[in-house]
Amino acid sequence: MLQAKRILLIISGGIAAYKSLDLIRRLREREANVRCVLTKAGSQFVTPLSVQALSENKVYQELFSLTDESEMGHIRLSREADLVVVAPASADLLAKMAHGRADDLASTLLLATDKPVMVAPTMNVEMWKHKATQRNVATLREDGIHIIGPADGDLACGEFGSGRMSEPADILAVIERYFGIQAAGSLTLVGRRVLVTSGPTYEAIDPVRYIANRSSGRQGHAIARGLGQLGAEVVLVSGPTNLPDPPGMEVVHVESARDMHIACHQALPVDAAICAAAVADWRAAAPAQQKIKKDGSGKAPPIEVTENPDILRDLSNHKVNRPALVIGFAAETQLVATHAREKMERKGCDWIVANDVSEGTGVMGGSRNTVHLIVGHDVDSWPTMTKEDVAARLGRRIAEHFRRQ
Ligand code: C5P
Repeated sequence: MLQAKRILLIISGGIAAYKSLDLIRRLREREANVRCVLTKAGSQFVTPLSVQALSENKVYQELFSLTDESEMGHIRLSREADLVVVAPASADLLAKMAHGRADDLASTLLLATDKPVMVAPTMNVEMWKHKATQRNVATLREDGIHIIGPADGDLACGEFGSGRMSEPADILAVIERYFGIQAAGSLTLVGRRVLVTSGPTYEAIDPVRYIANRSSGRQGHAIARGLGQLGAEVVLVSGPTNLPDPPGMEVVHVESARDMHIACHQALPVDAAICAAAVADWRAAAPAQQKIKKDGSGKAPPIEVTENPDILRDLSNHKVNRPALVIGFAAETQLVATHAREKMERKGCDWIVANDVSEGTGVMGGSRNTVHLIVGHDVDSWPTMTKEDVAARLGRRIAEHFRRQ
């Protein structure tokens, strides 16, 4: 899929630059043609020699280089690529890109290119969370730039949090997906950012006990993967599941409905939100700080419950950042379509995916699903299929919806 694809890789200054060497190696293994630009800061972390040896191409570093400019002008360098990837993308380079600055070779190329651009940010967690960086990232997203990651984890600076550059395998998955979609010439969600919720939520009763449900997260994760395969930038907000994180997307792990609610709001703005999570309706009103003990009286302790925030309803009624398309799920055991339509009205979402989860269907935790897609007054009943196929079909419907916009 990547054979002979021309990828311009810009390596800016960050300790994660060492991972870019691995990315180059993987791209070369797939026979992509990789040309690299190393910024001044980038060359503090990896040497031009290693980049050149791995990419098997000349490395470009200077904007005002007599030799480079005569051999391959910066305009040509940016135009002769099929895709531009910035990995790692430092806070500084993101700021330059967002403001259209062009004071070195990398920023000039990024301003001069007419090709799709993907960036994999890396920085300290506080730098990433800073309002200025978040503003810049939002601007870049609006400009149609695909943001890959960053991931959560230990940071080179010794802190923990969001700011780790996505792993080379994840960046590669996004690049392959992009070229896969191009080759298929089919429906795409490239340039669309989508939020997917998945899995159950755990609501603490005390430090060791919780209220939960039987959701496995398989359908929600399959939807996130399916949308990613169509080229969308996906944020998957997942409750506790046993599933691996799908590659090439931001995965936010949460436990409770309240955490999921916060994570979903932090993911905004998005073009579409698909709420596939089985969010617990209630939580313990006052979880005990210590493990609740049997007191020998034979009486069970009373557990007072209170209602959780309704994420789907809140996203559907968001005053500032209402996603253009909000899709809810309705797990029903009777009168599936009727109840689902009522739910759609009550929550204010645009589509509902309704499924029959009565005993014996094997849907909860199983690998297959029988769903009805409800759009306005239309009920589209799909045959029983795997959750992956439900995800692929739903993804196509979403892509068609946006194509018509
Ligand atoms: O109200 P009910 O739980 O039946 O609605 C199901 C739909 O609402 C699903 O899409 C689910 O993800 C979403 N939901 C939510 N927040 C809740 C409860 C449900 O987003 N607190």
